[in-house]
Amino acid sequence: MLASGSGTNLEALAEGCRRGYIPGEILLVISERPGAGALEKASAAGIEGLVLEWERFSGPEEFSGAVLREVRKRDIDLICLAGFLKKLSGRLLSEYEMRIMNIHPALLPSYGGKGMYGLRVHRAVLESGEKESGCTVHFIDGEYDRGQVIARRRVPVREGDTPESLAERVLRQEHKLYPEAVRKFALGEIGPERKI
Ligand code: GRF
Repeated sequence: MLASGSGTNLEALAEGCRRGYIPGEILLVISERPGAGALEKASAAGIEGLVLEWERFSGPEEFSGAVLREVRKRDIDLICLAGFLKKLSGRLLSEYEMRIMNIHPALLPSYGGKGMYGLRVHRAVLESGEKESGCTVHFIDGEYDRGQVIARRRVPVREGDTPESLAERVLRQEHKLYPEAVRKFALGEIGPERKI
């Protein structure tokens, strides 16, 4: 996993594996931020954590090369992003085509793209007067929040919602949606050999 946020999606996926709902195992958590909560959660779950500090690389190409080396070493099948805000590029994307997933806290293709992360997403949804929002799991390509959509879950926007209250409602659904999507991959229902 590549996770630089608080790590609640990591927890949900680790729990899915532990219960046998996902026939698989999380082998490595990479963060580009040393203090990321996701690293603490990884260590608590007995998962190897690794920091690849973004600033130490010349750009996305070199960073992605380092990620590729680490995932190859461990023969990793699927890379899951959660709260990872940087762009990936080059060899990693071609070698792992349809094998890198991301979760986004809105109903893509709406409210995605560069700069659309965290509370900014929910603020934009509320400012537009939307009646619903949700979350999306998708395969990644070279652009922010693009690539083939795998699944979405919807939540209502309620009267008096703040970006924080909406974020919480969406996050609860993320913790269900992500394990569902990864399970499908682990069962071979989606992925490079299966076009969805
Ligand atoms: C989630 O809201 C996810 O949709 C977004 O970043 C957040 C990560 O949260 N991409 P966590 O680190 O999994 O708690």
